[in-house]
Amino acid sequence: MCGITGYIGDNKTTDILIDGLKRLEYRGYDSCGIAVVDAKNELYLRRVSGRVDALDKLVAGDPAKGPKSGVGHTRWATHGAPSEDNAHPHTDCTGRVVVVHNGIIENYLDLKEKLQAGGHKFKSETDTEVIAHLMEEKLKSLHVQEKAVRAEMLEPVFFEAFRRTVAELKGSFALSMVWASCPAMLLAARMHSPLVIGLGKGENFIASDVSAFLKFTKRVVFLNDGEMAAVRKDGVDYYDFKGKKTSKDAVTIQWDSTMAEKGGYKHFMLKEIHEQAESVENTLRGRLLPLGGDILKAETGLTTASMKGFAALQFVACGTAYHACLVGRFLFENFGIPAHADVASEFTDRAKLMHKDTLVVAISQSGETADTLFAVREAKAAGARVLAITNTVGSTLTREADYVLHTHCGPEIGVASTKAFLGQLAAIYLLAGHFAAARGILSSTEARRYAEDLLKVPRLIEETLAGEKEIAKVAEAFAASEHFLFISRHINYPIALEGALKIKEISYVHAEGYAAGEMKHGPIAIIYKGMPLLAVAPTGRALELMAGNVEEAKARGADVVAIVDAASRKTVKANRYIVLPDAPELFTPLLTVIPLQIFAYYVALAKKCDIDKPRNLAKSVTVR
Ligand code: AGP
Repeated sequence: MCGITGYIGDNKTTDILIDGLKRLEYRGYDSCGIAVVDAKNELYLRRVSGRVDALDKLVAGDPAKGPKSGVGHTRWATHGAPSEDNAHPHTDCTGRVVVVHNGIIENYLDLKEKLQAGGHKFKSETDTEVIAHLMEEKLKSLHVQEKAVRAEMLEPVFFEAFRRTVAELKGSFALSMVWASCPAMLLAARMHSPLVIGLGKGENFIASDVSAFLKFTKRVVFLNDGEMAAVRKDGVDYYDFKGKKTSKDAVTIQWDSTMAEKGGYKHFMLKEIHEQAESVENTLRGRLLPLGGDILKAETGLTTASMKGFAALQFVACGTAYHACLVGRFLFENFGIPAHADVASEFTDRAKLMHKDTLVVAISQSGETADTLFAVREAKAAGARVLAITNTVGSTLTREADYVLHTHCGPEIGVASTKAFLGQLAAIYLLAGHFAAARGILSSTEARRYAEDLLKVPRLIEETLAGEKEIAKVAEAFAASEHFLFISRHINYPIALEGALKIKEISYVHAEGYAAGEMKHGPIAIIYKGMPLLAVAPTGRALELMAGNVEEAKARGADVVAIVDAASRKTVKANRYIVLPDAPELFTPLLTVIPLQIFAYYVALAKKCDIDKPRNLAKSVTVR
């Protein structure tokens, strides 16, 4: 997830772009840049590897003279490590066409090969740069005689070349382009990434979200997927991707800019809980079909052959990432592929047993967790090869792993991990499908069915999120509780652990996650009258046993909240229910964790805790 912004008008473009980028930094902050068309129709381009403050200092010395229009970008790397070369804006070979982009161009490798074959020289590792060179080709194909006509005569050419460029892109994009030869118009297009137009007086704005320009105008137009905008300082025209003009209604935003950064949510954690469908979608995008491994080769180095060759997988991580490891273990074992999972801080002895046929899967949102890095080094010393699953491009973990699979969740600001966890699960399900298909465990029909089920998950997540208010009511009933129990079985056992961790992290109260089968072996003794017990019990082979666990807990006075689907609701006799949409048992962890995240959030809210920055915790634990 990155932040893009754009401006056209007679005010200080550079200052406006920088100010907007500062308000978009929560969307990405590993590098940034601006491009401004100045009064002489020259392009002024400045980029830094680092935060917007560094860019601000850079341009303060030499702001563009008499600027008219420009674009800016603050990056959360997905393709290509953070660096000045990989920072946006990107240009074509002429250096006069500029693009900023948020999203993932799925077909960028094909486009890049064709453009390079046509003589284009690329300066970055990003997917975005192909857009600028593709635009250059389209302008050429329209036989533009730039010198021959006045700039405004070039506007229809600029627009048509832009339309043809956008038509060739596959994947997700919110993008904006300027062309130095046509400074009175800025173009923007949206597909699967947010893009909003700000309507000012004698000036107009574009951005990833309203926080970038809310101080200048609250009149906005939200673009939908498949829409483009031709933005001039005195007006905006809207089109579909075929170039057909459309009309759009403006709305007035009621938020202040602080609320806008959180998308109108009270906390980043709640905003990020609601971004989970997008996190799963973006992590799966362009990597799933055909299942069997080779589609991952270009990006991760993993091949069908390598997936066949590994004898076992060894997951290792900390905290929430460790709970993702446990889901991975159950998932791979479900396919008959040997898999283990350890917390990184307890991996030292097991590390000695690693060997070249083991694939160690190190999961880390930050890619900087000291315990996980230490475990990776121990495993490599024993001869194992390491796959990193991380949300942070260019992190230490990515530089030490043999293979890297990025989750595309954008920066996670809340200390309590939510969307990054879902991204980790999506990456694990993706990997398991490829491994099982590569090893012939899934037939081609079964592989297709598995992929179809996985592609349905984002919609099921949205349906689950729609139950937020009911879940909040249940949570508020337990706001005064000082102890919580979470239980489940099999592939949802890790979700019980994750639910307990979420409550502990942000509400500072005691909570335990347990394998439900363990209750009789001791923990059942701690149940007291009214103790909140959350039981994750979707339809599946563990349902009857889970129903028994709930009965036993209730008989001892527990106040049971069951996380169920419509069918299992009939079997489980709880005090309260949170009912999820139906899903195949194997995929239920991608849904069952969501009500537990929301439950923890509203307990913490009722307790007036500092939800985004809980006491004693850091977003990344870089010490052992
Ligand atoms: C999760 O809510 C916690 N913030 C914490 O357990 C976290 O998952 C753990 O520290 C691992 O962090 P990483 O994913 O960046 O390695």
